Amino acid sequence: MEEENKTITVHMETLDLHPQCSHGPTLLFSRGTDGKKFYSCAAYRDKKKCPFFLWEDQSGEKYVQQFERDPIISKMLRYKLQSRYELVKGLKPEDRMYCDKCNQLFPKIEKVNHLDHEEMLRDNIDDYNLSHPSQLLRPIQETKGESQYFFTDTTIDAFISIFKSLGITSLICLGAPTVHEKIVCEVSEINSTLLDIDHRHIQFYECNRFRWFNMFNCHVLEECDTEIVLEDLLSQTESMALLLDPPFGGRLEPIAYTLKKFDEIRKKNNKNILSKFLILPYFMERHVINCLPEMTMLDYKVDYVNHKKFNDSGRNKGSPIRLFTNVNQAKVALPVEENYKFCEECDRWVCSENFHCYQCGGCMSKNGRKYIHCNLCKKCVKKTWKHCKGCRKCCLPDHRCTNSIIKRSSVNSNAKKGQKKQKKN
Ligand SMILES: C[S@@+](CC[C@H](N)C(=O)[O-])C[C@H]1O[C@@H](n2cnc3c(N)ncnc32)[C@H](O)[C@@H]1O
Ligand SMILES: [Zn+2]
Ligand SMILES: [Zn+2]
Ligand SMILES: [Zn+2]
Ligand SMILES: [Zn+2]
Ligand SMILES: [Zn+2]
Ligand SMILES: [Zn+2]
Repeated sequence: MEEENKTITVHMETLDLHPQCSHGPTLLFSRGTDGKKFYSCAAYRDKKKCPFFLWEDQSGEKYVQQFERDPIISKMLRYKLQSRYELVKGLKPEDRMYCDKCNQLFPKIEKVNHLDHEEMLRDNIDDYNLSHPSQLLRPIQETKGESQYFFTDTTIDAFISIFKSLGITSLICLGAPTVHEKIVCEVSEINSTLLDIDHRHIQFYECNRFRWFNMFNCHVLEECDTEIVLEDLLSQTESMALLLDPPFGGRLEPIAYTLKKFDEIRKKNNKNILSKFLILPYFMERHVINCLPEMTMLDYKVDYVNHKKFNDSGRNKGSPIRLFTNVNQAKVALPVEENYKFCEECDRWVCSENFHCYQCGGCMSKNGRKYIHCNLCKKCVKKTWKHCKGCRKCCLPDHRCTNSIIKRSSVNSNAKKGQKKQKKN
């Protein structure tokens, strides 16, 4: 994906005019090599999930979409799902079932309809499962689509206490079902709405609690008017926040497009700017600030339970995933019990291993571990790095120093040339 990102450009200027697949307007891309432009699905890069592909110059022509469409979620279907949910909820846990094949909650007496799906059936659906569908639904972890990795309880609690201390009364969880579930069940002072591409959530919620939404083209995928739905949602209260956890590898430009649309709707309705919290790795900081100049990176390490690299077990470095926000960092208190402290000089909360450097004028660590100031580089660097004379900067001590190799080899070859000359003479 990193490679792809380097060579593929995404063009958001004319999104409204792009052809649509079942995930809303497609995105217009161009490849670095020949610059030829093409439209492709905004939600999925995996052709099995959505095979939409069209060269830009073909767009006037008819194109056939021969693929399995996602369901069409009409008001009628929503109503049916809602009444089935109520029916199932009224039953005892042992009489409730869920089919992973049909993505459906149903009463056990209807099991005959799922005989071919025996291995995909789950029974004993308790109340906790009904109110925490992310724990019931099989996580989808393809790298080219949803990438469903869930936060640890500690991380969820940290987010919630940040929202509470900011006095947030409405929250949009965009791709963050676990936070949404906890707030709906346990935090009565915050009103939360989940927006997500995973339509399996629909059957668990009324429409003010969940909308089937694509964050890469700002499109509500249900049969309704995107503008009206978003305007209703975004004009609710003054103190509104947005928590956005995009799938890994997703492009930032389309996300910036969606955030800008949200801001425009708030402005049109004379509401305060949204307090935004966007989750991405710390090494994307420069790219984030390029696309979203209002955002700064917080020191908080976001932990995941089911991600090999980004969870809190067996890792030595701590999660590289951070929160980016447009809120003044002095107001975003990070949990002392998780080893964060307030830096008076910086006027922001930082990780306890992050020491204030008076030469740089800030707490400079990015990866959550100790940095030290290098007088030659005139900046703070990772503690494990050493200043290399060949490279004229701090590097890993065991780096293959091409600079000193070049120098040494040119010294050697000059010496050899000298020897040859001597021999000739
Ligand atoms: C990395 S997971 C985040 C889950 C989160 N950590 C939690 O614990 O709730 C990404 C989330 O974004 C959703 N998602 C993926 N692509 C999306 C899209 N194009 N539009 C909206 N949501 C999307 C996934 O379904 C998933 O819920
Ligand atoms: Zn699509
Ligand atoms: Zn089934
Ligand atoms: Zn500091
Ligand atoms: Zn420094
Ligand atoms: Zn140095
Ligand atoms: Zn070197």
